[in-house]
Amino acid sequence: MIDAQRPAPPQGGFSARRLIGIDDLSDGDVDYILRLAEYYAGYLRRSAPAPARLRGKTQINLFFEDSTRTNLSFELAGKRLGADVINVPVSASSVHKGESLVDTAQTMAAMGADVMIVRAKEEGLHEALDARLDCAVVNGGAGAREHPTQALLDAATARSAFGGLEGRIVAICGDVRHSRVAGSNARLLRRLGAEVRFVGPARLAPPDDQFTDIERFDTLKDGLAGADIVMGLRMQFERMGAEFGETTGEALRDEESSRRYFREFGLTHETLRYAAPHAKVMHPGPMNRGVEIDGALADDPDRSLVLRQVFYGVATRMAALDALLAGDAD
Ligand code: CP
Repeated sequence: MIDAQRPAPPQGGFSARRLIGIDDLSDGDVDYILRLAEYYAGYLRRSAPAPARLRGKTQINLFFEDSTRTNLSFELAGKRLGADVINVPVSASSVHKGESLVDTAQTMAAMGADVMIVRAKEEGLHEALDARLDCAVVNGGAGAREHPTQALLDAATARSAFGGLEGRIVAICGDVRHSRVAGSNARLLRRLGAEVRFVGPARLAPPDDQFTDIERFDTLKDGLAGADIVMGLRMQFERMGAEFGETTGEALRDEESSRRYFREFGLTHETLRYAAPHAKVMHPGPMNRGVEIDGALADDPDRSLVLRQVFYGVATRMAALDALLAGDAD
């Protein structure tokens, strides 16, 4: 007899042992995670308890950079699957006594972690941890480089709205240069068949030798033309200093500059008219309302998928944890 509360999980293999970048996943792995995300989204929509497939597993969340969505949704995801979840209070940890990030992570792993979710700005830290730790390492955000579970949850959200990404046009707008979300999304969405564009001021586009096959636009009018999905990005002021010089970061941050930026590149109901009539807007959060996106558009349930992205954040991270840790149970 079919139990409507307990549908069968999707079938399929999963080969990855870590999730540091999108390219750690085969096409089959991506497909499996996205189908599993939809399976768990069903439980979340019904407020039904999901199978405790991670009972007995220990998940450690180690966030060396601030986070609201990623940290909380990984915590919820692990708990909904029955894992023991530990959030390391980094600001009160021995990192501040000079302990290295690797030593801190190794200490946590020695306490018996099965998976460690790590957010850090340091290049190469995740790979160094993967080489040293016995547990699975999941990237919860690495500098300006990769945020793979954000890309997966964005793909799950887009699929829920459009049925699939094959042939869809996705315009990624704003501060692409400093965005790990843009990088992971560009890698993943194209693998799923979408046409990706970067839209924004030239100084916020990636360096010329990166993503050379992605078309760049410096006006919303051209970049959004015919787009199905318009993805706004936050100005990542915290990463501008080193590359642009502090003064440029500061200059972009002041109110007049923000207003000017919004006039030229702000996503509003009006600028969304450049896109396809059915276009939806996405944003990974946190948003700077009135800088890269108008609050009225972000809050418009007919045009905005922002809160649906948050919802799929939990479902997709449940899927990623399950795929990495649970094996072929059930
Ligand atoms: N999208 C995202 O990574 O948000 P947080 O920084 O709040 O985790």
